[in-house]
Amino acid sequence: MTNTVAGMHRFWTGPTGAGPPGIARAKGLHIWDTDGRRFIDATSGPITVNIGHGDERVLAAMREQAAQFCFAYPSNFESERSTELSRRLAALAGPGLECAFFVSSGSEAVEKCLQFARRAAIARGESARYRVISRNPSYHGSTRATMALSADPGYAPYLAGHPPGIHVPAPSSFRPPAGTAAGSYAMQCAEALRARIIESGPDSVLAFIMEPVMGFCGGADSAPPEYYRRVREICDEFGVLLVYDEIVSGAGRTGTFLAANRWPAARPDLVVLAKGLGGGYAPLAAFLAPAHLVDAVAGSGGFHVGHTHKAHPLACAVGLAILDVTLGDRLIENAATMGDYLRGALRAIQKQNPLIGDVRGLGLLNAVEIVADRDSARMLPRELDVVGRVQALAREQGLLIYGRRTHAGRFGDWIMVAPPLIATRADIDEIVAGLARCLERYRRELAGQA
Ligand SMILES: Cc1ncc(COP(=O)(O)O)c(C=O)c1O
Repeated sequence: MTNTVAGMHRFWTGPTGAGPPGIARAKGLHIWDTDGRRFIDATSGPITVNIGHGDERVLAAMREQAAQFCFAYPSNFESERSTELSRRLAALAGPGLECAFFVSSGSEAVEKCLQFARRAAIARGESARYRVISRNPSYHGSTRATMALSADPGYAPYLAGHPPGIHVPAPSSFRPPAGTAAGSYAMQCAEALRARIIESGPDSVLAFIMEPVMGFCGGADSAPPEYYRRVREICDEFGVLLVYDEIVSGAGRTGTFLAANRWPAARPDLVVLAKGLGGGYAPLAAFLAPAHLVDAVAGSGGFHVGHTHKAHPLACAVGLAILDVTLGDRLIENAATMGDYLRGALRAIQKQNPLIGDVRGLGLLNAVEIVADRDSARMLPRELDVVGRVQALAREQGLLIYGRRTHAGRFGDWIMVAPPLIATRADIDEIVAGLARCLERYRRELAGQA
């Protein structure tokens, strides 16, 4: 391992400085390290490499764009790439999301989206609206404002007062409060939103943001359709904008282009996309907004937020090529079919291993929750660092799992199973077999038999 790698990883691996191996090349679902070892990527990096690595069509589009121009600042020149990408996203997102604003990361896109919401409130003569309500648990990014939205207590004093987070509980299908069925709990969570809006002063509430299908913070959990419908009704009742953070769930990952496309009666006002939008080929993120709000903002002073790389032509060219591959190869349909197959295979190994408490997800956004006891959903002791240990064991099997222990494991320990949307049955079989081996090894280790 080179000093550069070790030194860089000191930022997030602690004093040992032990980073992961160097990467040599990547193709499809596979990555080879500098020692020639092959890994299969069970989580698309951090749920990003939706179409797999090294797709020649995307590489050709990048070369073509780069040969014309890489950069054009939007206030100097319009690039056809961004206008075309905006138009294509609008067609896929469905009614009411006609415009797209492009930036480079999910955190920026969430911030921009909420800044836009604030400008829209001012444009509509509702300048008292500024508060944003989010869910607990949630994850919306790593800038100061998005960390305040995400209810992670890790940075608490620094975030205090930045905007003070206003949180409501997120539904939980696996671990609702004792004596409450998951469906009723989801409806209680929706009513908690209503109560929180009233308590905060309805005229001061700008937006409610949530991940419709949770990513790392909730292990691919989602709620019954009535929850989304009720949340929409509540937002309508108080004139609150409903924002779906689809950074993980969007771009075809759950078997529809947006997860929102599943609930036509609960259309969001604004949607945030990232990760799969650029597929790891380029940093690309966006928020989608209705034309009437964009027009209102444009007519009342505009939306002058600077980011040097906003609507970056090369990133937008990548976004277009990724959409071509996604639609041309029917990857959204594949995500739906392979997702069913994957959950079936995971449920089969669940029968063999009592550590697997729950298998859940939509399309190819899935999680396996690891427990001490399945019936009571009791968690393993936090100090075991379950996610970290399972990741390490998986790596030994040549299986890459990206995981993050959200909120210090307070809401459970799960690993994501979210391979690229190009996954075949053979790929899924390989991933599930590797997982079965590593979870069995972990079971034996915990039982003192390793
Ligand atoms: C749901 C969700 N929102 C926002 C973000 C932040 O995106 P980025 O890491 O690109 O800033 C993430 C990243 O994991 C995410 O999962």
